[in-house]
Amino acid sequence: MGRLIVLKLGGSVVTSKQQRFSFNRDVLLRIGKELRTCWPTPLLIVHGGGSFGHPVAEAYGIKKGYQRPEQLRGFLETVSAMRRLNDLVVSTLGESGLPVIGIPTYCTVTTNDGEIETCNFEPIFSAMDIGLIPVMHGDAVFDRKLKFTILSGDALASYIARKLKAKQLIFAVDVDGVYGLDRNTSQRFLIEELTEKVHMSIKYEQAEGDVTGGMFYKVEEALSAARHGVEVYIINGLVPGRIEAVIKGQKVIGTRVRVG
Ligand code: IPE
Repeated sequence: MGRLIVLKLGGSVVTSKQQRFSFNRDVLLRIGKELRTCWPTPLLIVHGGGSFGHPVAEAYGIKKGYQRPEQLRGFLETVSAMRRLNDLVVSTLGESGLPVIGIPTYCTVTTNDGEIETCNFEPIFSAMDIGLIPVMHGDAVFDRKLKFTILSGDALASYIARKLKAKQLIFAVDVDGVYGLDRNTSQRFLIEELTEKVHMSIKYEQAEGDVTGGMFYKVEEALSAARHGVEVYIINGLVPGRIEAVIKGQKVIGTRVRVG
């Protein structure tokens, strides 16, 4: 699998986070065209939840696990919202002629206390074997200890990249990459090479305005794949041409995540 590319499309790329259930069709059409120019390349896509998955999962506290029966409705609604978003992503990418196939994460992966415990690679391998592009996603999943929880698309993409010894793992987000804060000028600057040491020194909350820790955890997942020899990039998926350029090995504005 030394040529496999794992592409995580962030929820803020596939949806508009401002408005519930707003799918970024134009963005997906454009990304589909970019990927078409790279095809055939072994590719696996994972997308986030954005305004489909997050609001309902948060309203019912799904990540914390099963605490009261009313949450079952939230679990089912989260799964159903992610099925709908996955269908939209798959059908829109398919319009560009890409042979994409949705693989629901909740049927494929289980976790134990939030960490991936089992992943049925059979449908993934079978799809890729005949040239199809699996499209998975962050999801509400069954968990051995918590009964259910939320598995982020970042954790899933990193896990698959590690297990399948992918060549590249690309996180396409709605900013140019990871930012640092210059101590002297207090200006934000884009970090082009992010090592573990740099990661530990970044105050994400100040540099990114990142109160939920989104970028911190993304970089943790990125580093975990980099430690397994995967080339990892965090780039802006809303800027035309960047996804295509990084897959083609061209220099692109963004953050390369490296071990040391
Ligand atoms: C979350 O996936 C999935 C659900 C909330 C069900 P991600 O954590 O990967 O989503 P984004 O990319 O942050 O939107």
